[in-house]
Amino acid sequence: MSSWSEVVGRRFGDGAPLSEGADDNDFLRRVLSRKTVRRYSDRIPAEELLDRLVACALSASAKSDFQQASILRVRDQQKRAAIGELFPSMPWIGAAPAFFIFLGDARRLQRIGEIRGKPVRNGTLEGFFNASIDAALAMQTMILCAESVGLGVCPISVIRNEIDKVAAVLGLPDLVFPVAGLCLGYPEGEGHVSLRLPRTLTTHADRYDDSALGLAIDDYDRRRHALHAIPREQQRSNAEFGEAEFYGWSEDKARQAAKAEGAAFPPYLRSHGFSFD
Ligand SMILES: Cc1cc2nc3c(=O)[nH]c(=O)nc-3n(C[C@H](O)[C@H](O)[C@H](O)COP(=O)(O)O)c2cc1C
Repeated sequence: MSSWSEVVGRRFGDGAPLSEGADDNDFLRRVLSRKTVRRYSDRIPAEELLDRLVACALSASAKSDFQQASILRVRDQQKRAAIGELFPSMPWIGAAPAFFIFLGDARRLQRIGEIRGKPVRNGTLEGFFNASIDAALAMQTMILCAESVGLGVCPISVIRNEIDKVAAVLGLPDLVFPVAGLCLGYPEGEGHVSLRLPRTLTTHADRYDDSALGLAIDDYDRRRHALHAIPREQQRSNAEFGEAEFYGWSEDKARQAAKAEGAAFPPYLRSHGFSFD
């Protein structure tokens, strides 16, 4: 079994130790070593296990106990194929043994208001935000539970790039929107733990301070490049930004974020019940 310093070293590689003395705990060790899985073996997860994982996901915390997450399992092969074909660069969407969609569901509370005869308006920014968080927490709960029993998963937010088509396939009503899909199956191959930013950047004590960002990112880029360099042929938008001699994580993420995704999502939401007041 790996020591704490080994697991935390693989995750952060920043030399900062993990506090010793805490009780040993296999779940924590697994979380520190977790990784997204996009290739799955032919072994099909048992229905009883999937059922249990859905129950675990729906046990996540929920803002104000409003319970605004819904989970949709796509079982119909034609629907799976119809969604998968929209994203040919991500074949795992159509191929994973199981595929769930985590929905922000602001509709249910709105309907409960109608049933109880109360003036509920849940298409607000608050309603959207709360439903999004509930769905994200439910998904992350399923992720950690699935990984704890040896399954591998991959969240899929790219479905929002084709929101109109995906919503039509799934028959989503107003005020219900996908936060992300989740591919799930038994892992094929090892994969690797993705190095996270140093905790000196992502944690703060008493006062927010990002004054060391530039130097820390430079250092992170080089450490990450030494472990898993991004191949030259995977550099993004070279026609626009030119080929980079050194292409690290921050160059990749800045190029990715410069090409904003999800243009179809805001108009979809606005035409499906959200005013964001
Ligand atoms: C909300 C969310 C959406 C994601 N969407 C996609 C996606 O559409 N396609 C994909 O292949 N991976 C997707 N991922 C997986 C991330 O790329 C992955 O978590 C990240 O690279 C970090 O890797 P790790 O989870 O192995 O640490 C998503 C992850 C999250 C949390």
